[in-house]
Amino acid sequence: MLKIITVDGPSGSGKGTVSRILAKQLGYHYLDSGALYRLLGLVAVRHGIDIGLNSDVAHLAENMDVSFEALPNGHNRVLLEGEDVTQELRLEETGALASKVAAIPSVRAALLTRQHQFAKAPGLVADGRDMGTKVFPYAQLKIFLTASIEERASRRYKQLLEQGENVSLRALEEQVRLRDEKDMTRKASPLAKAKDAVEVDTSDLSIQEAVDRLQNLVILRGIA
Ligand code: DC
Repeated sequence: MLKIITVDGPSGSGKGTVSRILAKQLGYHYLDSGALYRLLGLVAVRHGIDIGLNSDVAHLAENMDVSFEALPNGHNRVLLEGEDVTQELRLEETGALASKVAAIPSVRAALLTRQHQFAKAPGLVADGRDMGTKVFPYAQLKIFLTASIEERASRRYKQLLEQGENVSLRALEEQVRLRDEKDMTRKASPLAKAKDAVEVDTSDLSIQEAVDRLQNLVILRGIA
């Protein structure tokens, strides 16, 4: 039987990294659902589509030409209309566009089919905000990954420093707080822990320790 593991949580909880490693270890496919929202934001701007026009954006969500190529290191190369946009996807401004299109209910509905297409044998690890609640409610294992606001802001701070950006830690903590509030209070598929999800707090865990926790849950559930 096709196995599905969902990993939801706020930004900075480590869900992207942990999910990617887990998928690689299990030999499963990997869905980074945030990348679909980021791609849609990007393609809307490129095609000059007003993000306020919900039906136009939803139409684009159904028709956009995107593909994901799995690389040997577990990362994806993302192509938009044949062009490699992997780096552009990670920019803060792309994230801001993604957050706008993600709040449109018809867009979320249009992206459902695309997300379901990632579920292929032998299994899938899907990360996002509503994987366990809306997209794959029948998943065999649902994880809700969290970390304190301070820890998530500090992780982002280190990332930005490495990229040569100079920002204040205090300002980042405030940004994380505001983004959580926005993600959790929006009407369309807010970030929420599924009733049957297992919560894992990564505040004091290394990446490897977090992956090990998830691997233990996979074994306990008899998934692999
Ligand atoms: O995880 P991320 O930063 O790549 O997500 C980008 C944006 O998309 C973020 O604002 C949350 C939103 N998103 C969502 O609403 N539902 C998902 N399943 C994944 C991401």
